[in-house]
Amino acid sequence: MCEIIAVANQKGGAGKTTTTKNLGRALSENGKKVLEVDFDPQFSLSTSLGYTNTDSEQFTIGDLMDRAIEMKELPDKEEYIKHTAHFDILLSNIVLSSTEMKLVGILEREYILKSILDDLRGDYDYILIDCNPSLGMLVINALAACDSVIIPVDSNYLASKGLELFLRTFIRILKRINTKLYIKGILLTKFNGLTNISKKTFRNINESYGSGINIFETKIPSSVKVGESDDQGLSIIDFTPENPVAIAYLELAKEVINYVGQ
Ligand SMILES: Nc1ncnc2c1ncn2[C@@H]1O[C@H](COP(=O)(O)OP(=O)(O)O)[C@@H](O)[C@H]1O
Ligand SMILES: [Mg+2]
Repeated sequence: MCEIIAVANQKGGAGKTTTTKNLGRALSENGKKVLEVDFDPQFSLSTSLGYTNTDSEQFTIGDLMDRAIEMKELPDKEEYIKHTAHFDILLSNIVLSSTEMKLVGILEREYILKSILDDLRGDYDYILIDCNPSLGMLVINALAACDSVIIPVDSNYLASKGLELFLRTFIRILKRINTKLYIKGILLTKFNGLTNISKKTFRNINESYGSGINIFETKIPSSVKVGESDDQGLSIIDFTPENPVAIAYLELAKEVINYVGQ
């Protein structure tokens, strides 16, 4: 059974792209078939996987969305899915920013991404969607298309207010659009247990949400190697497997696989 997970938080810099990239890689280490979907018009997931010139790509997620909006047939999967050694990718480029505007005026606008990804469920154990930092139509499409959500939170910011806003959108989607949607967990990123700010962020999130929402045991530490691995177009697991961030994402993958529900 395929599970589609949206990695979402309207705050930029929370660790969404890093988590999509490295959790996907870590899931593949456990024998899972994984597709990572770059669903951000800024295409940083594509770039950080070494696809630095996606403007020249014939079919990105924006093109597929545009075709689906116009009710045209999609190209063959082999034309738009990229294979890497460990997982597959659906690339993005700037096309996706105009797609968002096209969505506004059409019927069933929340379900366009869902119509694309449902056809891929048979090919994967996990499909991870890297969301853009907003609460706009693209994120709503991602929340309508997925089974669950992972919410990365930067431990260096007291995040409660931003999370409140995200959860309000989540509840709207849950009530009206995707009634089986659930939050797989809140993930603390760039966590440093020695700093007061990390400890305080964790305490706040635990107090505010811990009784109703899973907070992953695994916390992702901070390392400059994350940026270096992006530069090399590699996951942190392939770049420096012994790095604490690599180890943490492998642990997170185990938590995700073994998750038994709320
Ligand atoms: N665990 C980490 N340690 C150090 N830097 C990180 C870590 N996770 C993310 N970063 C850096 O923080 C920035 C924002 O991360 P990113 O994953 O792009 O966030 P988002 O997708 O939520 O905007 C990037 O420059 C990334 O390299
Ligand atoms: Mg991002």
